[in-house]
Amino acid sequence: MQVVTVNASKKYDVRIGTGLIDNIGEEIAPLMSGKKVMLVSDDKVFSLYGERTVKSLEKVGYLVKVFTFPNGEESKNINNYSNLVEALFEAQMSRKDLVIALGGGVVTDLAGFAAATYQRGVGLVMVPTTLLAAVDASVGGKNGINLTNGKNQIGTFYQPGVVLCDIETLWSLPGEEYTNGCAEIIKYAMIVNDGLFELIRDTDVKDNYEEIITRCVTIKRDYVEADEFDTGKRMMLNFGHTIGHAVEACSGYTIPHGRAVAIGMAAITKAAVVNGYCTEDTRMQLDELLEQYDLLDDLKFKAEDLMECVKVDKKNSSGMLRIVIPKGIGSCWIKEIYKEECLKWIVLGGAR
Ligand SMILES: NC(=O)c1ccc[n+]([C@@H]2O[C@H](COP(=O)([O-])OP(=O)(O)OC[C@H]3O[C@@H](n4cnc5c(N)ncnc54)[C@H](O)[C@@H]3O)[C@@H](O)[C@H]2O)c1
Ligand SMILES: [Zn+2]
Repeated sequence: MQVVTVNASKKYDVRIGTGLIDNIGEEIAPLMSGKKVMLVSDDKVFSLYGERTVKSLEKVGYLVKVFTFPNGEESKNINNYSNLVEALFEAQMSRKDLVIALGGGVVTDLAGFAAATYQRGVGLVMVPTTLLAAVDASVGGKNGINLTNGKNQIGTFYQPGVVLCDIETLWSLPGEEYTNGCAEIIKYAMIVNDGLFELIRDTDVKDNYEEIITRCVTIKRDYVEADEFDTGKRMMLNFGHTIGHAVEACSGYTIPHGRAVAIGMAAITKAAVVNGYCTEDTRMQLDELLEQYDLLDDLKFKAEDLMECVKVDKKNSSGMLRIVIPKGIGSCWIKEIYKEECLKWIVLGGAR
């Protein structure tokens, strides 16, 4: 078992290991004085791990209510949020009680937002069951839901009381979900030079879950502690995401997030070589690693279409945006550019 402690506005542990679900009752006991738990999950995850989780909670005397919804990004919507907070009220949950999110990023984002807003904040436990949620979505306090045409447009910063990452759950992940998580892991390996790049090149991520997830969570922890509310340094975690988000949107969200980020990382690195910010050797090393994890795809959209989807920095009203540029393996920096300049980067990145 590995433990990473996050010292943000709230201090909490991320526990990474095996057997956590079967002991979840004991794990959460220090976090609550009430007796009620709302277990939030999607239909797929609940069918795989719901019964075991409920049993483990009931074994130590908790009253468990369950809220599930159909799996998939479409479920991260206002309707499910509304139904969930109504269910919390119906169950007469109070701030002494606890919401447990069991699932991937869709579940942790939706349950996190409900826990943050119901009665201005009730206890929250994250139990990530996808690789992406384990290394990213469950840690750091961002939550949210989508509007009809706007991803993650409503949300808060709200840290959980504990994150319990039971790596045994990752064995049932479909191949594409594994690949998606690997893209975010490669992102961490590109921004911090701590040997992670070599580790995931020389050993398969799935053969070394505990160590690799711990390393990624530690990297994320450091950025969250330095900039919890995402006003500067935390932006580094967006390596590959400016073009990646545009790729996702241009594909009508048929290209999943992780794969889109991988395309974004390859494109920005290609452009960085042309602009003299990093070497061809860096680009080749990244491309080889992306290929190893089946993540090397072309940027097959038109530059103008991608530009339509590039978001101007929310924190900057003057049409500027910040992009993350690689200097080498394990080293990136943040550059502020005009939105129009972004088109050049996208073209150099290989867009049509
Ligand atoms: N809050 C943040 O900081 C943050 C960071 C990154 C991503 N996100 C959000 O996370 C979401 C994506 O998360 P995701 O990729 O985990 O998607 P997801 O939650 O939709 O899970 C992907 C699929 O895997 C299934 N699944 C989950 N665990 C499983 C398991 N153990 N075995 C078999 N199947 C399993 C789910 O039912 C679903 O069909 C997006 O909405 C994104 O915006 C949030
Ligand atoms: Zn991401």
